Formats: sequence, C-alpha cells, structure tokens
Amino acid sequence: MRPDGKLVIILLWLTASSPLSGGTAGREITVGVLAHRGADTTMEMWTPTIEYLAEQISGHEFRLLPLDLHGMRAALEHNELDLILTNPGNYVELEAGYGITRIATLKNQNHGRPSKTFGAVILTRTGRDDIRVLADLRGKTFAAVAEDAFGGFQMAWRELVDAGIDPFNDFSTLHFVGFPQDNIVFDVRDGKMDAGTVRTGILEGLAEQGIINLADFRILNRQVDNEFPFLRSTRLYPEWAFAKGRSMPDALASKVAIALLQMPDDHPASRAGNYAGWTVPLSYQPVHDLFRQLKTGPYAKTTRITLLDVIRHYWHWFALMLLLILFSMFFNIFVKRQVNRRTAELTKEVAERKRAEEESRKLLSENRFLIQKSLAVQEGERRHLARELHDELGQCITAIQADAKIISQCAPDCEPHVLTSANAIQEVASRIYEVVHSMMQRLRPGMLDDLGLVDTLKEEIDAWRDRHPDTLCQLTISGDPSNLGDEANITLYRITQECLTNIAKYARAQHVTIELGIIENQPESVTGSMDKAWIRMVIQDDGTGMDMKSHGSGLGLIGMRERVEGLYGRFSVVSEIGGGTTISVYLPLTPAEPATS
Ligand SMILES: Nc1ncnc2c1ncn2[C@@H]1O[C@H](COP(=O)(O)OP(=O)(O)OP(=O)(O)O)[C@@H](O)[C@H]1O
Ligand SMILES: [Mg+2]
Repeated sequence: MRPDGKLVIILLWLTASSPLSGGTAGREITVGVLAHRGADTTMEMWTPTIEYLAEQISGHEFRLLPLDLHGMRAALEHNELDLILTNPGNYVELEAGYGITRIATLKNQNHGRPSKTFGAVILTRTGRDDIRVLADLRGKTFAAVAEDAFGGFQMAWRELVDAGIDPFNDFSTLHFVGFPQDNIVFDVRDGKMDAGTVRTGILEGLAEQGIINLADFRILNRQVDNEFPFLRSTRLYPEWAFAKGRSMPDALASKVAIALLQMPDDHPASRAGNYAGWTVPLSYQPVHDLFRQLKTGPYAKTTRITLLDVIRHYWHWFALMLLLILFSMFFNIFVKRQVNRRTAELTKEVAERKRAEEESRKLLSENRFLIQKSLAVQEGERRHLARELHDELGQCITAIQADAKIISQCAPDCEPHVLTSANAIQEVASRIYEVVHSMMQRLRPGMLDDLGLVDTLKEEIDAWRDRHPDTLCQLTISGDPSNLGDEANITLYRITQECLTNIAKYARAQHVTIELGIIENQPESVTGSMDKAWIRMVIQDDGTGMDMKSHGSGLGLIGMRERVEGLYGRFSVVSEIGGGTTISVYLPLTPAEPATS
C-alpha cells in the first residue's frame, strides 16, 4: 500500500517504565516516519522500535505517525512532530526548511550485511547489447520511483548528469512508477522499460527470494567496492536519519539518542525494522553535494526559480498589475484623447481670438486714421471759414465803417439825424467786427501759427479769466513744449478750450490748474508703447465734479478722447461729485505712423 498524501494518523499509546525514566515528565512524543512503502508496512516495521523507546524512556506517550514526503512537510509546518525518521534526501531538505537535527543514523540490515551507507543501482536487461554505458540510455525509456525519491531517482540522476544525460530531456520516456521499487525491476526484466533505477539491496533481496535472477540484469556504471556488499551504480550516501524536531527538548532528545545507540544490533525491534541498530549521526554532506549539483532539494529555490514559478506563485499580483496597467493604459488613452480634443479646440479658439484681435486692431487703427482725417478736414474748414469771414465780411465791415465815417464828416451839411445814424452805423460795424474777429479767433487762432502753443494758451486763458474773474486759473509749463507739431498743438488747444468751457458751464470752481510739459518716462497707464518722450497735459478744477457713470449726451469729452487716441495718446477723466475733475492727456512726442487704408 502506498501513502496517499494525506496525513495517515495512527495512534499508538505506549507507556512503560525504564532505566532512562525521570526528567522531562508527561510529554506526548510524536514520531513521524517516512512511509515510502505504505502506512501498513511502516507500522509493521517501526512499531517495535517505538515500543522500545517507550520502554527506555518512561513517563512519556509515544505516537507513531506514518507520513509521505508531503505529509511530513505539512506536519512540520504545524510543528506536530517531535521525532522524524526519514531518508537522507528528505532529511537534508527538512533540516534546511524546518530546522530538524539528526541524533542517529540507521544501520541497514541487508541480508545479514549491516550498512550505514547506501546507493542506487541503474539496471537494464542483459540482452540489451545497445545499452552498455550510461550514455547509451539517450533516447531510451527509463523507470524510477519519483522525482523527489532520493534512492529511487536522485542518486541515479546525479550519475546520469555526470555522463552527459539530462533525464528530463534525453530519455524518450521518464516514467515515475512510485513504490514499491520491486515494480521497476520487473518492468526492466519484462522489457516494458529499457532501463531503471532502484536503491541498493533491492536486487539482491528479490534474488534471494527467488523472484528474479540476477543474471538477467546488466548493471550500468557499476562501482566496484569490496567494503560495500551490494551491486551499485552510484556514489554512497548515509543511511536514513533519526532526527529531532525544533520543539523537542534537548534533554529528551538526548535520552532518545542514547536509547537508540544502546539498542543491540539483533534486538527484536531491529529485526522487525530490518535494520541492525543505530550509529552516531553521519555527515550528510554528500547529500548536500548531490542537491547542490542537481540544483534541487534545499538548493532548488535559489537556483531553479523560473519565470513560470514566479508567475504561478504571484499570479494574483500579476493579474492585479496587469489590470492596473490596462486601466492606466486606457486611462492614458482617454486622457490623451481629451487633451488632444481640448488642445485642438483651444488652438482654434486662440487662432480665432488672434484673428479677432487683429481685426479689431486694424479697425481701431483705421478708426484713428479716419478721426485724424476728419479732424484735419474740420480744422481746414474752420481755417477756410475764418479766412472767408476775414476777407469777405471783414472787408465789407471796413467798407461800411469807411462809408459811415464819410457820411459823418459831411454831417454839418446834412440833417442832424443823419449824423446820429452815421455814428450809430460806425458803432454797430465796430461791434460786428469785434464779434467776427472773436469768431475768427475761435475758428482758427491765428496766434497758434504765429506765436506757438504756449502763448496762444496764455492768450486764451487770459481771455477766459477776463470773462470769469471769480475763478483763479493758473498755467504751468515744464520742459519745452514749443515744437510739438501742428496736430498736437491744435489738439491741446482744443482740449484746453473745451475744458475751460465745461468748467465755466458746470464746475463752479474756485481754482483751475493747467499743467503742460514733456516727460521722459512712459506714463504708468501706457504699456507696450515704444515711445520714450511724452507730452503731458493735466487740467484740474476743484469744482462740483461729475458722476462718472453718466456724464450726459454732450460731445465735448468724447471729442477730446477721439482727438487724443487719434494721435496714439492716452486720455483719462477722474472725477467724483463734490471732488473736482481732473483730465489727463498724454501724447507721444513722435506719434506712430497712422494706418493706411
Ligand atoms: N469740469 C467739469 N465739472 C463738472 N462737470 C463737468 C465738467 N466737465 C464736464 N462735466 C459734465 O460732463 C458732461 C459732459 O461734458 P461734455 O463736454 O462732454 O458735454 P457738454 O458740455 O454737456 O456738451 P458739449 O460739450 O457737446 O457742448 C457735462 O454735461 C457735465 O455734466
Ligand atoms: Mg462741453
């Protein structure tokens, strides 16, 4: 019967008194034994040994637990084993994985020949002339116990590797048939398999029982050794180990070791287990060497981890990562699309806005140009009208005055009322001349051309003061605004005229200041302009002020702004009710080129 991988729990309650009694009291000791030939056989073989231990060490209950390789690892995982009896390969793995420590090594009883070491035999049929050395096994069928069976496969594996054969790739079939190993011998004998491997002693045992004939088998890679009594193909390795688990107290383990070493070779327990007592624990270094060379057992994890192993072990993390990657990819694509779409929209919007700005800049420029033109036309018309008034009306009035004078000179010869009328005509004509002259001045101040801006302003302000003696009006000049050009001169003059008119009409001011000058630095309200020097005019009064939200339907302020902006200047009005009014004008000293239509 083969172990089926589950924990096979068979309890054996054994209590007795013995020479080694005393010390650690009342502990139940579980002994896990590798059941490589099935639980029943294991119980049969090892129960007497456990009974022997129970006899020798009193006060403790011993429990025998037959386990397969997997079951043994599971039991140690849960710290359920105090003592472990297992093959050397398994021992080395458990020593590395679970910290078990050997306390004795088995002396095997092979047909009256005790042995502390064992090996494996690689066999084929005698008639197979095509298989004489291990290398001949390439492409053949091969039987073994299991991939993790130490004597039943791994010992042969090492020799095969040394002979250049990789059992997992170079055989046509690698068949793991499990326990008992006798079946491998039969399969090779009966031609079902080309070759196979079993542990040493199996062949001799079957032959002694008359089940097989040794002459039917050829031993490959045969090792000749006078001390070791069996046919063998591999190196020798220490026999099974009796070990203590991590939780087993040292004192108690020592008692077990002493009891085992004291067991006579021919004790009934030895005979039942088909062994010849126990020896001090051997070195299991050869087993380590084998595992290290084959990169298996405790050396498998560090050297034989494949990507597939990692994926198998961490598949849920990989799946999660994959999901996250997919999610972030989709998210990226989605975001990128959105960004691209929005960028395209924004680019379009920006282009449209630029076009609109360009359009409005062009319109503004054209508008300024038109204003300048219309103002120039207006000024031209005014100049023409002034000339007409002067040339036509002025001449006529002068003529009337002259005629009236002639009439008055001959008055003594005339009627007295004729003299009166002639004098009246002269007076009216003078009056008309004054009015016309004043109109001519307002239409086109001749002084602007003759005397320049500053004197014309002084003249204008003086005339204004005469008309409004209650208001103090001061003109301050800074820098030299004598050469500003026709357009700037007429603009500043008209603005002064309109401001003084408004102050007279609305402000009821006591003080008026008019500042005119040149500044070198660009005013704060002007950004982006390249002009360095500016004309600055500020007209300030302390009158009633005005409501900036609604300043009527007049054209004065609008006209001022249009004139200034037409010359690429800046115009601003600051006023509040009761707080006076300040009108600021900045004109670039060298105006920008007007747009051409
Ligand atoms: N210095 C000032 N003090 C108080 N209010 C003022 C002053 N200047 C202008 N205003 C107010 O602003 C309004 C607009 O002035 P604006 O010169 O544009 O028009 P107007 O003088 O009413 O008419 P127009 O100038 O066309 O003959 C005026 O009606 C007045 O109420
Ligand atoms: Mg006005």
